[in-house]
Parts: sequence; C-alpha cells; structure tokens
Amino acid sequence: MGKPTLLVTRHLPAAVEARAARDYEARLNPDDMIWSGEEIVRHAAGCDGLLVAAGCRMDAATLGALPASVRCIATFSVGTDHIDLAAAKARGIVVANTPDVLSVATAEIGMLLILMAARRGGEAERLVRAGQWHGWTPTQLMGVTLEGKRLGILGMGRIGRALARMARGFGMEIHYRNRSRLDPALEEGAIYHDSDESLLRAAQVLSLHIPGGAATRHWLNAERIALLPKGAIVVNTGRGTTVDDAALIAALRSGHLFAAGLDVYDGEPKVNPGYLALENVALLPHLGSATVETRDAMGFRALDNLDAVLLRGAAAPDRVA
Ligand code: DGY
Repeated sequence: MGKPTLLVTRHLPAAVEARAARDYEARLNPDDMIWSGEEIVRHAAGCDGLLVAAGCRMDAATLGALPASVRCIATFSVGTDHIDLAAAKARGIVVANTPDVLSVATAEIGMLLILMAARRGGEAERLVRAGQWHGWTPTQLMGVTLEGKRLGILGMGRIGRALARMARGFGMEIHYRNRSRLDPALEEGAIYHDSDESLLRAAQVLSLHIPGGAATRHWLNAERIALLPKGAIVVNTGRGTTVDDAALIAALRSGHLFAAGLDVYDGEPKVNPGYLALENVALLPHLGSATVETRDAMGFRALDNLDAVLLRGAAAPDRVA
C-alpha cells in the first residue's frame, strides 16, 4: 500500500516539511499562499489528512465539502477556534491540536508584553529611533515596578501556569481564575478566585488565557474593565476576540488603565486603528509560539497525531474532536 496523502496548508519549518514528505505523499505550500475554504477543498482532493494552521478557517461548509477520504485534521496550534469541531465530528474526521509544546514560548511573550507595558518599552524605543532622546532625566518615561504587584491570570492552563512561574521570578503575587480550582501541587502558591469579579478587582496586571469562540467573545468589556484597579495593565496572548477593542481603547485613553500589551487581535491581521494611535499599548504580531524550537515541536506534534491515525490506525494523542 502507498503512503497516505497529506495536504499541508501553510509553509512549515524545514524539518517538519521534510518529515511530512518522508512519511506521506505530501502536498506542500512552499509559497505560503493563504487559501480560502474552497481552495483548501480543491487541494484536498484525494487526501487522507490535512495539516492546517490557526489562520485556516475550517468552518462547517469547508468541512462538509472535504472529500470523504479525509480522516484526520491536525492543526499547528493549540487554539482550535478556527475549526468547527462539531461539524468535523459529524463528518467523522478526527481533529487534533498541539498542546504543551508552545506553553513556555507563549508565556515568554506574555512576560515580554507585561514588561513592555509596565516599563513603556515600545514608547521608549520609538523615542530613541525617532532621534527624540535628548539625555537622561529624572522623570522621563516612568513606568511601574512589577515586584509586589498582583498578576491576575484568567485561564490557568499550561500557558497560564508557565507565565505564573516566570512572573514569580519578578516578585509578582499570582492570582488566578479557572474553570475549576487547580490541585494545590499545581497552584504553587497562586491565589484562586471563585468569581470573575473577585479576580478583576485584585488584578493590577490582568493576563488573558481563555479560548476564542462565541462563548468568550468580548469577555473583557467595559463593565469588566471598570472592575480592574485604576492604573492596571491588560495583556492578551490568547485570542483577540475575547477583548472588546472599543472598551479597552477607551480605558487606555481615559487613564483608567495604565497600559496594555497585545499579541492577538479581533479580526487579525487587521489591528483596530484606535490602538495604533496610542502610546500606552505594546503591539506584537501574534508571536506567541514563534521560536525555532517551538515551531519545530508544534509541527512534529501535529505529525505525531496524523501518524497515529493515518499510519497506525491508532487514536490521536491530542484529539479534540
Ligand atoms: C495557537 O497555537 O493557538 C497560536 O495562537 C497560533 O499558533
């Protein structure tokens, strides 16, 4: 029997594509074209599996139009909000993601954004690059010290816990809210809050780690932002859809919030122009998992899942549907 056929919808790191080409009849996308749902369906003709990524919208119509030969979709991401999991399940297509391997890299970007927001990193760098730095002054670009501040983590999964470990190194006090309280061994001294309101009232820095999708859309709205202490910082490395941009921009403008740091955006790659006009927001282009080590590990993990289903007829280790 020949090798199964695998469609890889985005250009992936060389080692990942090499492994895919070794073990599958791999259809690669070396020019990294962003394919629409119809294009993915067209390229998937005769395929047994798909390796997709976060920007590929696998909605019910696309999933419904895939050839019957497709048995497994692995996504090169931990987030799965771009895939209609119920529709995949209805089609009998196994879906798997890449948990664990990107937790540290994403937490590092969370920590970077906290530091940039607290210490005005972006604003300061722009000043130097613009030739506007005229020498040290006692009062220029004063930020806030992280030591002793309360970090509120919404969603204490693997990424949230990795961020908590890093932030402890900066002397921050860790507070969290999660679907359920963690086992004390995993809490490592973090303080659990049994309501959103209680976490928000405590958080001098709030870091969002909740999944995207309809249930969390605009979770951080004006009402919730108002509960944060004056001068708080908001950081988002999860999904942009969880933030009501208009409300966050208003709070950054009014001074209720000191600053924000964003790696993800509602409707990305578009960025709300309101953010671009503000000095007190650090903006990164969805870099959470973007390290050489992590992107290789994500690709290998996605292939591990495809191998289980398509090469060994086994269960996908990271099955989500
Ligand atoms: C993820 O893994 O969900 C990232 O946000 C995109 O790679």
